[in-house]
Amino acid sequence: MLHGKTILLIIGGGIAAYKSLELIRELKKRGAGVRCILTKAATQFVTPLSVAALSGEKVYDDLFSLTDEVEMGHIQLSRSADLLVVAPATADLMARMAQGQAGDLAATTLLATDKRVLIAPAMNVRMWNHPATQRNLAVLKGDGVSMVGPNEGDMACGEYGPGRMAEPAEIAAAIEAELVGQGAPKPLAGRHVLVTSGPTHEPIDPVRYIANRSSGKQGHAIAAAAAAAGARVTLVSGPVAIPAPAGVTLVPVETARQMLSAVEAALPADIAIFAAAVADWRAASEAGGKIKKGSGAAPALSLVENPDILATIARRGSGRPALVVGFAAETEKLAEHATAKLARKGCDLIVANDVSLSGSGIAGGVMGSEANAVHLVSSSGVVSWPVMSKDEVAARLIAHLAALGADWT
Ligand code: C5P
Repeated sequence: MLHGKTILLIIGGGIAAYKSLELIRELKKRGAGVRCILTKAATQFVTPLSVAALSGEKVYDDLFSLTDEVEMGHIQLSRSADLLVVAPATADLMARMAQGQAGDLAATTLLATDKRVLIAPAMNVRMWNHPATQRNLAVLKGDGVSMVGPNEGDMACGEYGPGRMAEPAEIAAAIEAELVGQGAPKPLAGRHVLVTSGPTHEPIDPVRYIANRSSGKQGHAIAAAAAAAGARVTLVSGPVAIPAPAGVTLVPVETARQMLSAVEAALPADIAIFAAAVADWRAASEAGGKIKKGSGAAPALSLVENPDILATIARRGSGRPALVVGFAAETEKLAEHATAKLARKGCDLIVANDVSLSGSGIAGGVMGSEANAVHLVSSSGVVSWPVMSKDEVAARLIAHLAALGADWT
């Protein structure tokens, strides 16, 4: 995806710098050329030798190196790349960028560039939340700098919260979105697209839950495709192992009821796509403490039905999205079942997966496979697409919905 592109990666001095080594590999794998600048502090965390070995290029770390200036001046270095990426973007680097400082090669290059800049912040949670950092961030955003992450989670310093650098694969995807999306048409610009994805977890007691094998791959791919088409995207996702695509707002949830509330809170939307595998049932009551094995009979699990999120939104009187799309996994009589579901749920389109085909959906192994064979079922009939990757399904579905909505006011 990045063949022929050159990335100038500026590595700041933070513990997350070790992930930048993996980022270099990710970018090379995708065909990009990677040239790196290390700040002085970064050299305390990763060695220029590792960076040079992985990038296969000379590493720059000193503004006043005579040889470097003769071989490639810092101005040329800043312009020879297609994109500048700062990862990790430390609090210090962000502050210096926001002020337009030029005290070292990293800062000078960022000031001298005429290319887009993407930052992947990484710092302690309190440093991230500090008004000074948030002020600097607002300045950088105002200057047109893009951002990926930071993610929430455990930090190297032992604290928990936002501040973890985005994972290398997430940063690579954001870089692709910056570069590959450049100049592409944005048919959903100005639109809000709401997507549900992943499974839901329904607690039985504090340690056990009912779940399913949904990977979230299809829903996340749809969110990414909608963002690439220029939409503002809200992704309401159950627990999944994959990162949220760059440029979408992730609302993480666990249960079906939380998913419904998050969806309702995210409205209004122009398009709502319900790709989540919502658990149909939940435990009638959640035990306050862990249910113990006893000598008696196994405890009975009594279930109650979860709200149908798709049907609830599709049947809303006011504030119903203009296009409501559902998914249906079918193994037989696909068109018939999906058409019935379309009417029952009150949605505009059902994307029916033929999960009886090997290589797609569940039956090809497990939910979570890469390929999907889908049929689009609407009031105007059934359109069948050939087996394709989930990313292709997502891109085609978004293009289809954008075309349907072309005459929106
Ligand atoms: O009824 P069934 O589960 O087959 O319908 C699948 C479609 O309905 C999917 O789009 C799924 O996201 C949605 N759904 C929902 N809430 C539920 C059950 C399913 O939004 N409780």
